[in-house]
Amino acid sequence: MSHGFFITGTDTGVGKTLVACGLMHGLRRQGLSVLGMKPVAAGRENGRWEDVDAMMAAASVPAPREWVCPCALEEPIAPHIAAMHEGRHIGIDAILAAYSHLARFADAVVVEGVGGFLVPLNERETAADLAVRLALPVILVVGLRLGCLNHALLTADAVRSRRLRLAGWVANQIAPSFDAQEENIDALLQRLDAPFLGRIPFLDALRPELIAPMLRIPDPFEWNPAPSAKP
Ligand SMILES: Nc1ncnc2c1ncn2[C@@H]1O[C@H](COP(=O)(O)OP(=O)(O)OP(=O)(O)O)[C@@H](O)[C@H]1O
Ligand SMILES: [Mg+2]
Repeated sequence: MSHGFFITGTDTGVGKTLVACGLMHGLRRQGLSVLGMKPVAAGRENGRWEDVDAMMAAASVPAPREWVCPCALEEPIAPHIAAMHEGRHIGIDAILAAYSHLARFADAVVVEGVGGFLVPLNERETAADLAVRLALPVILVVGLRLGCLNHALLTADAVRSRRLRLAGWVANQIAPSFDAQEENIDALLQRLDAPFLGRIPFLDALRPELIAPMLRIPDPFEWNPAPSAKP
Protein backbone atom coordinates (compact mmCIF):
# COMPACT_ATOMS: atom_id res chain seq x y z
CA MET A 1 0.00 0.00 0.00
CA SER A 2 1.04 3.62 -0.19
CA HIS A 3 2.93 5.87 2.19
CA GLY A 4 1.54 6.41 5.62
CA PHE A 5 1.63 5.78 9.32
CA PHE A 6 -0.66 3.97 11.73
CA ILE A 7 -1.06 5.83 15.00
CA THR A 8 -1.68 3.70 18.04
CA GLY A 9 -1.61 4.55 21.72
CA THR A 10 -1.11 3.08 25.14
CA ASP A 11 -4.86 3.45 25.67
CA THR A 12 -7.89 5.37 24.60
CA GLY A 13 -7.73 9.12 25.34
CA VAL A 14 -3.92 9.39 25.31
CA GLY A 15 -3.52 11.87 22.46
CA LYS A 16 -3.62 9.78 19.27
CA THR A 17 -5.76 12.34 17.46
CA LEU A 18 -3.59 15.21 18.64
CA VAL A 19 -0.39 13.50 17.48
CA ALA A 20 -1.96 12.27 14.22
CA CYS A 21 -3.04 15.81 13.34
CA GLY A 22 0.30 17.27 14.47
CA LEU A 23 2.08 14.75 12.27
CA MET A 24 -0.16 15.65 9.33
CA HIS A 25 0.76 19.31 9.72
CA GLY A 26 4.44 18.38 9.96
CA LEU A 27 4.23 16.35 6.75
CA ARG A 28 2.45 19.22 5.03
CA ARG A 29 5.28 21.55 6.02
CA GLN A 30 7.61 19.25 4.15
CA GLY A 31 5.60 19.92 1.03
CA LEU A 32 3.65 16.65 1.01
CA SER A 33 -0.05 16.32 0.39
CA VAL A 34 -1.62 14.56 3.34
CA LEU A 35 -4.89 12.89 4.21
CA GLY A 36 -6.04 11.53 7.54
CA MET A 37 -8.15 8.49 8.26
CA LYS A 38 -10.07 7.49 11.36
CA PRO A 39 -11.41 4.20 10.07
CA VAL A 40 -13.48 3.38 13.13
CA ALA A 41 -14.95 6.14 15.29
CA ALA A 42 -17.13 5.18 18.22
CA GLY A 43 -19.19 7.89 19.89
CA ARG A 44 -21.13 10.71 18.33
CA GLU A 45 -21.21 13.89 20.44
CA ASN A 46 -23.48 16.79 19.56
CA GLY A 47 -24.04 15.27 16.16
CA ARG A 48 -20.31 15.02 15.42
CA TRP A 49 -17.47 12.56 15.47
CA GLU A 50 -14.73 14.85 16.73
CA ASP A 51 -11.79 12.72 15.61
CA VAL A 52 -13.12 12.52 12.07
CA ASP A 53 -13.63 16.27 11.92
CA ALA A 54 -10.11 16.83 13.28
CA MET A 55 -8.53 14.48 10.72
CA MET A 56 -10.45 16.15 7.88
CA ALA A 57 -9.43 19.62 9.10
CA ALA A 58 -5.75 18.64 9.28
CA ALA A 59 -5.70 17.28 5.72
CA SER A 60 -4.17 19.26 2.88
CA VAL A 61 -6.68 18.01 0.31
CA PRO A 62 -10.39 17.23 0.61
CA ALA A 63 -11.72 13.69 0.66
CA PRO A 64 -15.18 12.22 1.12
CA ARG A 65 -16.10 11.61 4.75
CA GLU A 66 -16.99 7.98 4.05
CA TRP A 67 -13.42 7.32 2.95
CA VAL A 68 -11.96 9.10 5.99
CA CYS A 69 -14.27 7.19 8.31
CA PRO A 70 -15.97 4.19 6.76
CA CYS A 71 -17.27 3.08 10.14
CA ALA A 72 -18.81 5.80 12.33
CA LEU A 73 -20.66 4.37 15.31
CA GLU A 74 -23.06 6.08 17.67
CA GLU A 75 -22.07 4.88 21.11
CA PRO A 76 -18.81 5.83 22.89
CA ILE A 77 -18.04 2.22 23.81
CA ALA A 78 -15.81 -0.60 22.55
CA PRO A 79 -16.23 -0.54 18.77
CA HIS A 80 -17.24 -4.15 18.16
CA ILE A 81 -19.95 -3.79 20.83
CA ALA A 82 -21.13 -0.45 19.43
CA ALA A 83 -21.31 -2.08 16.00
CA MET A 84 -23.24 -5.06 17.37
CA HIS A 85 -25.76 -2.71 18.99
CA GLU A 86 -26.39 -1.18 15.57
CA GLY A 87 -26.57 -4.53 13.81
CA ARG A 88 -23.37 -3.67 11.95
CA HIS A 89 -20.09 -5.45 11.44
CA ILE A 90 -16.69 -3.76 11.26
CA GLY A 91 -14.91 -5.32 8.30
CA ILE A 92 -11.25 -4.73 7.53
CA ASP A 93 -11.82 -5.19 3.78
CA ALA A 94 -14.10 -2.15 3.66
CA ILE A 95 -11.50 -0.11 5.56
CA LEU A 96 -8.75 -1.21 3.16
CA ALA A 97 -10.90 -0.18 0.22
CA ALA A 98 -11.43 3.29 1.72
CA TYR A 99 -7.70 3.59 2.50
CA SER A 100 -6.74 2.74 -1.05
CA HIS A 101 -9.05 5.48 -2.34
CA LEU A 102 -7.41 7.99 0.02
CA ALA A 103 -3.94 6.81 -0.93
CA ARG A 104 -4.58 7.82 -4.55
CA PHE A 105 -5.13 11.43 -3.58
CA ALA A 106 -2.25 12.21 -1.21
CA ASP A 107 1.45 11.54 -0.76
CA ALA A 108 0.85 10.31 2.78
CA VAL A 109 -2.12 9.00 4.73
CA VAL A 110 -2.08 9.12 8.52
CA VAL A 111 -4.39 6.51 10.01
CA GLU A 112 -5.51 6.81 13.60
CA GLY A 113 -6.29 3.51 15.27
CA VAL A 114 -9.09 3.08 17.74
CA GLY A 115 -8.49 2.66 21.47
CA GLY A 116 -5.32 0.66 22.19
CA PHE A 117 -3.53 -1.69 19.80
CA LEU A 118 -5.43 -4.88 20.60
CA VAL A 119 -8.91 -3.46 20.80
CA PRO A 120 -11.33 -5.85 19.07
CA LEU A 121 -12.93 -4.73 15.81
CA ASN A 122 -15.18 -7.75 15.41
CA GLU A 123 -15.45 -11.28 16.76
CA ARG A 124 -12.07 -12.28 15.31
CA GLU A 125 -9.98 -9.24 14.46
CA THR A 126 -8.36 -6.36 16.32
CA ALA A 127 -6.92 -2.95 15.51
CA ALA A 128 -3.56 -4.72 15.26
CA ASP A 129 -4.92 -6.87 12.42
CA LEU A 130 -5.96 -3.67 10.68
CA ALA A 131 -2.42 -2.28 11.02
CA VAL A 132 -1.04 -5.54 9.60
CA ARG A 133 -3.43 -5.52 6.63
CA LEU A 134 -2.58 -1.86 5.95
CA ALA A 135 1.11 -2.82 6.32
CA LEU A 136 1.91 0.59 7.73
CA PRO A 137 4.71 1.55 10.10
CA VAL A 138 3.32 2.26 13.55
CA ILE A 139 3.76 5.32 15.75
CA LEU A 140 3.02 4.83 19.43
CA VAL A 141 1.58 7.63 21.53
CA VAL A 142 2.39 7.17 25.20
CA GLY A 143 0.00 8.98 27.51
CA LEU A 144 2.17 9.85 30.49
CA ARG A 145 0.51 8.45 33.56
CA LEU A 146 1.06 5.73 36.10
CA GLY A 147 1.02 2.39 34.25
CA CYS A 148 2.26 3.81 30.96
CA LEU A 149 5.56 1.92 31.06
CA ASN A 150 3.83 -1.43 31.07
CA HIS A 151 1.32 -0.35 28.43
CA ALA A 152 4.01 1.13 26.19
CA LEU A 153 6.28 -1.91 26.39
CA LEU A 154 3.40 -4.35 25.84
CA THR A 155 2.27 -2.36 22.82
CA ALA A 156 5.77 -2.22 21.34
CA ASP A 157 6.01 -6.00 21.76
CA ALA A 158 2.65 -6.51 20.12
CA VAL A 159 3.70 -4.32 17.17
CA ARG A 160 7.00 -6.11 16.63
CA SER A 161 5.60 -9.58 17.11
CA ARG A 162 3.42 -8.88 14.07
CA ARG A 163 6.50 -7.89 12.06
CA LEU A 164 5.34 -4.31 11.86
CA ARG A 165 7.88 -1.52 12.16
CA LEU A 166 7.75 0.87 15.08
CA ALA A 167 8.53 4.17 13.37
CA GLY A 168 8.68 6.02 16.64
CA TRP A 169 6.99 7.02 19.84
CA VAL A 170 5.74 10.24 21.35
CA ALA A 171 5.49 11.11 25.04
CA ASN A 172 2.31 13.08 25.64
CA GLN A 173 1.67 14.80 28.94
CA ILE A 174 -2.06 14.23 29.33
CA ALA A 175 -2.30 15.54 32.89
CA PRO A 176 -1.02 18.77 34.43
CA SER A 177 1.45 16.80 36.52
CA PHE A 178 2.80 13.29 36.73
CA ASP A 179 5.24 12.21 39.44
CA ALA A 180 8.63 11.07 38.15
CA GLN A 181 7.79 12.06 34.59
CA GLU A 182 11.44 12.44 33.54
CA GLU A 183 12.36 9.04 34.96
CA ASN A 184 9.42 7.45 33.15
CA ILE A 185 10.46 8.98 29.84
CA ASP A 186 14.05 7.84 30.47
CA ALA A 187 12.83 4.32 31.20
CA LEU A 188 11.11 4.22 27.82
CA LEU A 189 14.08 5.80 26.03
CA GLN A 190 16.17 2.93 27.34
CA ARG A 191 13.71 0.18 26.51
CA LEU A 192 11.59 1.01 23.48
CA ASP A 193 14.36 0.81 20.87
CA ALA A 194 12.48 3.01 18.41
CA PRO A 195 12.97 6.64 17.39
CA PHE A 196 11.79 9.14 20.00
CA LEU A 197 9.71 11.64 18.06
CA GLY A 198 9.23 14.14 20.85
CA ARG A 199 7.25 15.12 23.89
CA ILE A 200 4.17 17.25 24.12
CA PRO A 201 3.62 19.18 27.35
CA PHE A 202 0.23 19.53 28.98
CA LEU A 203 -1.32 22.36 26.96
CA ASP A 204 -4.33 24.64 27.12
CA ALA A 205 -4.37 25.29 23.39
CA LEU A 206 -4.36 22.03 21.47
CA ARG A 207 -3.91 23.28 17.94
CA PRO A 208 -2.23 20.61 15.79
CA GLU A 209 -0.24 23.22 13.86
CA LEU A 210 1.39 24.11 17.19
CA ILE A 211 2.12 20.44 17.89
CA ALA A 212 3.94 19.81 14.60
CA PRO A 213 7.12 21.73 15.59
CA MET A 214 7.34 19.64 18.78
CA LEU A 215 7.65 16.45 16.75
CA ARG A 216 10.45 14.94 14.74
CA ILE A 217 8.51 14.09 11.61
CA PRO A 218 9.48 10.66 10.28
CA ASP A 219 10.04 10.39 6.54
CA PRO A 220 7.15 8.41 5.07
CA PHE A 221 9.25 7.40 2.07
CA GLU A 222 11.96 5.96 4.30
CA TRP A 223 9.46 4.06 6.44
CA ASN A 224 7.34 2.77 3.55
CA PRO A 225 9.93 1.42 1.12
CA ALA A 226 8.73 0.56 -2.36
CA PRO A 227 8.11 -3.19 -2.72
CA SER A 228 11.10 -4.88 -4.26
CA ALA A 229 10.68 -5.76 -7.94
CA LYS A 230 9.62 -9.35 -8.58
CA PRO A 231 12.32 -11.43 -10.31
N1 LIG B 1 -0.80 17.39 25.72
C1 LIG B 1 -2.06 17.57 26.10
N2 LIG B 1 -2.39 18.61 26.91
C2 LIG B 1 -3.66 18.78 27.31
N3 LIG B 1 -4.69 17.99 26.94
C3 LIG B 1 -4.41 16.95 26.13
C4 LIG B 1 -3.10 16.68 25.67
N4 LIG B 1 -3.13 15.59 24.88
C5 LIG B 1 -4.41 15.21 24.83
N5 LIG B 1 -5.19 16.02 25.58
C6 LIG B 1 -6.64 15.91 25.75
O1 LIG B 1 -6.92 14.58 26.11
C7 LIG B 1 -8.09 14.12 25.43
C8 LIG B 1 -7.74 12.91 24.60
O2 LIG B 1 -6.90 13.30 23.53
P1 LIG B 1 -7.11 12.66 22.10
O3 LIG B 1 -8.53 12.83 21.68
O4 LIG B 1 -6.07 13.19 21.18
O5 LIG B 1 -6.84 11.13 22.48
P2 LIG B 1 -7.11 9.83 21.62
O6 LIG B 1 -6.06 8.84 22.01
O7 LIG B 1 -7.19 10.21 20.19
O8 LIG B 1 -8.53 9.37 22.15
P3 LIG B 1 -9.52 8.29 21.45
O9 LIG B 1 -9.07 6.95 21.91
O10 LIG B 1 -10.85 8.69 22.00
O11 LIG B 1 -9.43 8.47 19.98
C9 LIG B 1 -8.61 15.29 24.60
O12 LIG B 1 -9.60 15.97 25.32
C10 LIG B 1 -7.39 16.14 24.43
O13 LIG B 1 -7.75 17.49 24.28
MG1 LIG C 1 -8.75 9.97 18.88
